[in-house]
Amino acid sequence: MASSRKFFVGGNWKMNGNSESIAEIVKNLNKAEKDFTRTEVVVAPPAIYLKQVVQDLNGKVAVSAQNCYKVSKGAFTGEISAEMIKDVGAKWVILGHSERRHVFGEKDELIGEKVGHSLSAGIGVIACVGELLSERENGTTNDVVCRQIKVISENVADWSKVVIAYEPVWAIGTGKTATPEQAQEVHQMIRGFFKENVSSEVALSVRIIYGGSVNAKNCCELAAKPDVDGFLVGGASLKPEFISIINSRN
Ligand code: PGA
Repeated sequence: MASSRKFFVGGNWKMNGNSESIAEIVKNLNKAEKDFTRTEVVVAPPAIYLKQVVQDLNGKVAVSAQNCYKVSKGAFTGEISAEMIKDVGAKWVILGHSERRHVFGEKDELIGEKVGHSLSAGIGVIACVGELLSERENGTTNDVVCRQIKVISENVADWSKVVIAYEPVWAIGTGKTATPEQAQEVHQMIRGFFKENVSSEVALSVRIIYGGSVNAKNCCELAAKPDVDGFLVGGASLKPEFISIINSRN
């Protein structure tokens, strides 16, 4: 049975691009957007280009920041707030990405606080979870993912503004994708967590997207899995093949 959850594809550009290359990506998205009827599409440029991208996109593709801090303003050099993201017209923020967790040392608690504050400021959250290779190998994938989801869920009142991105750390930027079966197994487990700990309604409606070396070649097989509701795409979101990934469920 086809799910009633709207397919969701996010493009995480990370720390890539410049004014010129970003203008080119936006031009391609604008050209293609008539096809995006069944998929919610969001792109996340580096913070300094948020406003440019919000202004230049035609309107069907929403814009996300890649991170923000847990309060609205103050002496936090180098940070941006959810209020600022909203102010420039972006609608989403990615929080808890594995690079934030593992390169910048962000802990579950901080990520939870960021999730809570961003939602209360009125922007949607793409909340990322995922295990390290060592954790997969020692059989603790479910424990790690549940621990991360639990902290996130303690900070959420309205689930309609939250998308969960399952991104196994060993699959990000490595060219090593989780198999559709591996992705489905964890997504189903996450949905089960919601059923048990939040509600059946949330378990049915929350979108759980997959990230980690998604490309035009592997997206259709992953998209066919019942609990895979879309993708968070890194490297391939900078390339024309992003359009094929957006349309992988059509
Ligand atoms: P990747 O990145 O597609 O380049 O593996 C995914 C992500 O980090 O969201």
